[in-house]
Amino acid sequence: MKIYEKVIHHIEHQLRSGSLQAYDLLPSVRNLSQTLNVSKNSVIRAYLALEQTGTILAHPRKGFSVKPDTEYDQPQPPSPQKIIRGATSLDIIGSAQRQADVVFGSANPDTRFKGRQEFYKQLNKLVRSEIKSPAIHRHYQAPPGDPQLRQQIAKKTHSGHAELNPDEIIITNGAQEAISLALRSITQPGDIIATESPCFYGILQCIEALGLQVVEIPSHAPDGIDLDQLSSILERWEIKAVLLNPHANNPLGFNMPDNMKSSLIALAKTHNLAIIEDDVFGALIPTSQRQRTLKSMDTEGRVILCSSLSKILDSDIRLGWVVPGQYFDQVNYLKYVTTLATSGLMQHAAALWMESANFNRHIKQLQNHYKQRKILFIESLKTYLPIEAHINCPDSGFLCWVALPPHINGDTLFTRMKSEGISITPGSLFGTAQQFQHCIRLNFSTFDNSAKQLRALARLGEVISEEINLQAQKSPA
Ligand SMILES: Cc1ncc(COP(=O)(O)O)c(C=O)c1O
Repeated sequence: MKIYEKVIHHIEHQLRSGSLQAYDLLPSVRNLSQTLNVSKNSVIRAYLALEQTGTILAHPRKGFSVKPDTEYDQPQPPSPQKIIRGATSLDIIGSAQRQADVVFGSANPDTRFKGRQEFYKQLNKLVRSEIKSPAIHRHYQAPPGDPQLRQQIAKKTHSGHAELNPDEIIITNGAQEAISLALRSITQPGDIIATESPCFYGILQCIEALGLQVVEIPSHAPDGIDLDQLSSILERWEIKAVLLNPHANNPLGFNMPDNMKSSLIALAKTHNLAIIEDDVFGALIPTSQRQRTLKSMDTEGRVILCSSLSKILDSDIRLGWVVPGQYFDQVNYLKYVTTLATSGLMQHAAALWMESANFNRHIKQLQNHYKQRKILFIESLKTYLPIEAHINCPDSGFLCWVALPPHINGDTLFTRMKSEGISITPGSLFGTAQQFQHCIRLNFSTFDNSAKQLRALARLGEVISEEINLQAQKSPA
């Protein structure tokens, strides 16, 4: 660590501990250099860097003061909010995906695996036999769905030690429908749901569309949701359910430790709460590191497990499932009245594919693949992004969260990169109050150090630096 970085560390520590607060004047350069036994130049350099990250303000001839409204300010306890977003994320993600030449944006998996080709061969076979001799009695595959597929899901989908029974599983159109059905089965419009924050935007929009309110509970790598805050929120408000993505979390990439999951289950019991467990990335965690699902710890049927084949096979086939525990009948009925069924042909092809011995090999390949992509990607990010970018290295999955200095706007970066054919996801989508506006999320599922991808990362680094310099010019000298 350079000496001026030690000075920054000292100031940040004081901010975090509350000994320096918003509007406080910082020690003079001479005083601090004497206190820390460093040169005046090191203190000046540290103060300028902190000014550039938007942590402190310069006042000509007076010195520096702590800027209000930064991450160091004492946060207000979260409270229920109605989400008013409309189709923002659909607009943003949809348009970026269509125009992108280099995709670091939405959470698509790599689709170049042999295992995926095998699925399509299986589907092709079914289609050809259907053309040759149509199944004249084929009709909706009514919920809960194809028995063979449900059996395979129970047997093979690494449900984190949960002993799943095929009869408990309902097939859905992806995890998104599973989550939506779960929410609808336990809430009425106006009810309050607690989520992690940052939270996958698809979930926030689903909560919005159902007329629910949300309390966003801060969540951090490496452990996930802040259980103390959740506990005090549960004392204060009537919360219907907690919705979590505890494995290979989107966007932070953490795996919630098992002891925290046990505490959450205990809290849910005390407050008679449902838990919606979104495990859509769970199978990407290497089996040796795979922790228990909340579902596997649940003895009362209050955990609703949701997952899909989107991240391990293809998001385009829209196959997912929900294991609703005590809410089975409501969810099954809602599935029926919402979409009648999920494509029987797709379900059958997936069942045959999962039955083949290659399924397990395919999953292992994916796990290794993303582990290696992560190492490559993080190295390249460190090379190309400016020092002010805080890169969160994920435990698992293929998503990386980058926090920039507070005054840098991820929406602006998104727009600038989009105009150059590079998609990224703006952090603002992951919260209701612009609290992640200075963040971006990057997908490295297909990252292979190609010249084109490296050029795109270098460009991202340049654009971030330009924005940082621009902001520095705007702030008072
Ligand atoms: C955390 C999370 N949950 C749910 C979904 C929706 O998944 P599906 O494609 O299975 O509907 C996604 C998609 O990216 C996701 O990231």
